[in-house]
Amino acid sequence: MTHRISVELATTKRPKPDVSKIGFGSCFTDHMFMMDYDADKGWHSPQILPYQPIMMDPAAKVFHYGQTIFEGLKAYRTADGRILLFRPQQNLKRLNRSNERMSIPDVDEELALEALRQLVLVDQDWIPREEGTSLYIRPYVFATEPLLGVAPSRQYKFMIIMSPVGSYYAEGIHPVRIHVESEYVRAVAGGVGQAKTAGNYAAGLKAQEKASEQGYSQVLWLDGVHRKYIEEVGSMNVFFRIGDKVVTPELNGSILAGITRDSVIQMLGSWGVEVEQRRLSIEELFEAQEQGRLVEAFGTGTAAVISPVGELNWENRKIIIGEGRTGELSARLYNELTGIQRGELADPFGWVLEL
Ligand code: COI
Repeated sequence: MTHRISVELATTKRPKPDVSKIGFGSCFTDHMFMMDYDADKGWHSPQILPYQPIMMDPAAKVFHYGQTIFEGLKAYRTADGRILLFRPQQNLKRLNRSNERMSIPDVDEELALEALRQLVLVDQDWIPREEGTSLYIRPYVFATEPLLGVAPSRQYKFMIIMSPVGSYYAEGIHPVRIHVESEYVRAVAGGVGQAKTAGNYAAGLKAQEKASEQGYSQVLWLDGVHRKYIEEVGSMNVFFRIGDKVVTPELNGSILAGITRDSVIQMLGSWGVEVEQRRLSIEELFEAQEQGRLVEAFGTGTAAVISPVGELNWENRKIIIGEGRTGELSARLYNELTGIQRGELADPFGWVLEL
């Protein structure tokens, strides 16, 4: 099925950033995608437009009740000039799972994939080629109905913007130091923790600020009920190599089902590494460290890729993991995953979609 997406090309080009200092998410490409929803028409008017500010009614529900969700995925340029997307269909499935949780109408995944495809092609000269860089794609949906009653909006916008990016963390691929949060919680089962919705990130900012004041890059969240089981880090899922197994928190309803998380589980399985998805308490982790069994730790995410974790600080107890150096599995995962994503290695899992 072909989808008619109207295209208005930009008449002037936005300045391109210096890729060597690119960082994460601070500059945007020439175009964006936008589509509207009205309760009586459904989703309509898909269009690619020059990147520009949008007009919003001050009463739009998203400003007052936070009815919004987002996704994140990346496009890569291969050495021989091809353009690859990494598992975009999974992002669109998760987008609709988040929509469902936030009472937002489903987006047609085929149309959304076509929108991604056309937008990336229109702005393909923005895909950086340098090692460690990519074009980050941010699809998002938000409630636009101007009405202060608390009820699902009857109007929405679905938009996609794109940003050439380097590393998410200033540390690059060097290990990050993480603060284990014991005062605030991110989510509870039954809440919206597994949805990629803005409020989860806003709710984490206070703890994030506290952690950065103490020199930590990120916060590791514990479960909201017992305050003892490990959940996830602010922008990534986490894995720990304990003895000869790799352990990652099970998807319990309050953890985001990361696509990189799933890819890493599949990749480790294909190497014969046993991965346990289960409850893992912070005490167990600290005990494993005392017994010399905590070999390495790393986070996974679209933005974070594979980020080795070199230090955890929990209630004034500090552990240095793997002598603060990047572990063997983290390095191998980073190389193989980014190798597949950049089209430098074979893709036995069928993950990449060539445009
Ligand atoms: C991603 O990894 O794509 C995310 O959405 C995390 C975000 C907080 C940067």
